[in-house]
Amino acid sequence: MIRFHILTLFPDMVYSGLNESILKRAINADLIEIECVNIRDYTENKHNKVDDYTYGGGAGMLMQAQPVYDCIEAVEDKITSAGRKRAKVIYVTPRGRVFDQSIAKEYSVEEDIIILCGHYEGIDERVLEESVTDLISIGDYVLTGGELPAMVLTDCIARLVPGVLNNADSAETESFSDGLLEYPQYSRPEIWHDKAVPEVLLSGHHKNIEKWRLERSLEETKKHRPDLYEKYVANSKKL
Ligand code: ADE
Repeated sequence: MIRFHILTLFPDMVYSGLNESILKRAINADLIEIECVNIRDYTENKHNKVDDYTYGGGAGMLMQAQPVYDCIEAVEDKITSAGRKRAKVIYVTPRGRVFDQSIAKEYSVEEDIIILCGHYEGIDERVLEESVTDLISIGDYVLTGGELPAMVLTDCIARLVPGVLNNADSAETESFSDGLLEYPQYSRPEIWHDKAVPEVLLSGHHKNIEKWRLERSLEETKKHRPDLYEKYVANSKKL
């Protein structure tokens, strides 16, 4: 069981994005828990404000330290009073380490994960220094807020929790788990728009099918992700 605590100004956006399909089933089966906490509920400002101008000038508003800090502490207190250890606090930001499958695997063994979503121009640096343990980016581009990145992390980590995916091996055989992209797949009908399903897949010959799939994985990876292909070849030579 992993408990995701997503700290955001837009909890409805995050709930609606994560409460469908596979994750919905996982929540109902008590395999994961997703709790969105509204940072605004923790502001001491009498007008419920959570942002202010930046010192030094420049465009845009910044989320202030106080509501963010108090929100994180409230969630950590809840976790520790239930007898669990203080959770990692991930701040999603373009200046973080770029997220990938191996980072997702590391996080998938945690009991609790706090994900902090920034908005506007970001968050006062002092609270990041004090409370955040990990900075994570989902890629070299800029979004309007941390909610989509938080959903990306949650989805990717949650599907690695045992039982979340139906088929026990589908998390093992897919793209990236062995450093290669996935091979192409086909379903019925056997012929569609004059295109036939590759013969070997109809043969029932498991060894040949495995061999074909590995070859196609290598081909796809070499063609679309030469960087991953080089890494795979270098690693195979070491073994
Ligand atoms: N917030 C805005 N852009 C982001 C990105 N690329 N990754 C993580 N958080 C972000």
